[in-house]
Amino acid sequence: MAEIGKDIIKAKAILDAGELVGIPTETVYGLAGNALQADAVAKIFETKNRPSFDPLILHTSCLDKVYDFVKEIPEVLKDLAEAFWPGPLTLLLPRKPNVPDLVTSGLETVAVRIPSHPLTRSLLTSLNYPLAAPSANPFGYISPTQASHVNDQLGDKIKYILDGGFCEVGLESTIVGLEAGEVTVYRLGGLDLTLIEDIVGPVQVMSHSSSNPKAPGLLKSHYAPSKPFIIGDINDLVERYHKEGLDFAVMTFKKDFYQVAERNKIILSPQGDMKEAAKNLFAAMRILDSMDVSVILSELLPNEGLGKAINDRLKRASIQV
Ligand code: TXA
Ligand code: MG
Repeated sequence: MAEIGKDIIKAKAILDAGELVGIPTETVYGLAGNALQADAVAKIFETKNRPSFDPLILHTSCLDKVYDFVKEIPEVLKDLAEAFWPGPLTLLLPRKPNVPDLVTSGLETVAVRIPSHPLTRSLLTSLNYPLAAPSANPFGYISPTQASHVNDQLGDKIKYILDGGFCEVGLESTIVGLEAGEVTVYRLGGLDLTLIEDIVGPVQVMSHSSSNPKAPGLLKSHYAPSKPFIIGDINDLVERYHKEGLDFAVMTFKKDFYQVAERNKIILSPQGDMKEAAKNLFAAMRILDSMDVSVILSELLPNEGLGKAINDRLKRASIQV
């Protein structure tokens, strides 16, 4: 674990004063505040412009501390905690009364996660309260995977961003809970579903908010970029737009469209590595969004492993063809 450096001391002082700090995690950057202090939690909602019906994830440093906020961890979820914490897994657990209603939006469960990023682990270890931290983006925008992303969008609203470099995983945590006793995934994310199934057997996936009141934040357009984003089998469209001389950009998993200029294309992983594609995805979407083009075309990835979570994010951001 990293030493307690000046940056962690500074972040701790700001959090102790009830203010917010941008924190790095292995998934995406978070906008963190003292989860047990309702005023600090209210600032999170205000700063992100987030509706209060969308509950937050509580971050802490070890399993012992988790029991300070939850009544119990059902055996099967404990198996997952033991296998994947610290890491990109969030568990929905029955909450204790000390967790403010604002954190859980009044739900009886609280979302908990132990992140693995060394800076944030050191920070969490130094605190005597957990951190509530949604992704550090304005509500309805792409999650940040670098400190500069946080600074671009929330820099003028928060006092400090703890810079932990580029997020290794690049997708938000996988959210898992129990639904009528069955292990259920509420948000596909940075922990590959197949790894979860290796431990607990087949699980059900319920991941859209419209039909899923348990994860009210999973709105259809949650990751929407600001210009038309078309996904699917884009081969014919690339050909057509190219012939018509239209200004467009392309994102692919590993394929190179030679007819498209370098500056207008992003290949997520030339080697075809799903982890690399996940890590690059949100930064790529930001770059595409800032390009001077009128439309963005993107392939879907093979719908397996992390590809499922990546495709889920692409679908939320897009118009499908
Ligand atoms: O990787 C992550 O999970 C990142 C990093 C910063 O930890 N955090 C993150 O938080 O993605 P956020 O707030 O952007 O997304 C949390 C999701 C929301 O969709 C919310 O609805 C859901 O978790 N959630 C939180 N508490 C819940 C609960 N008690 N029941 C159901 N869903 C819950
Ligand atoms: Mg978010």
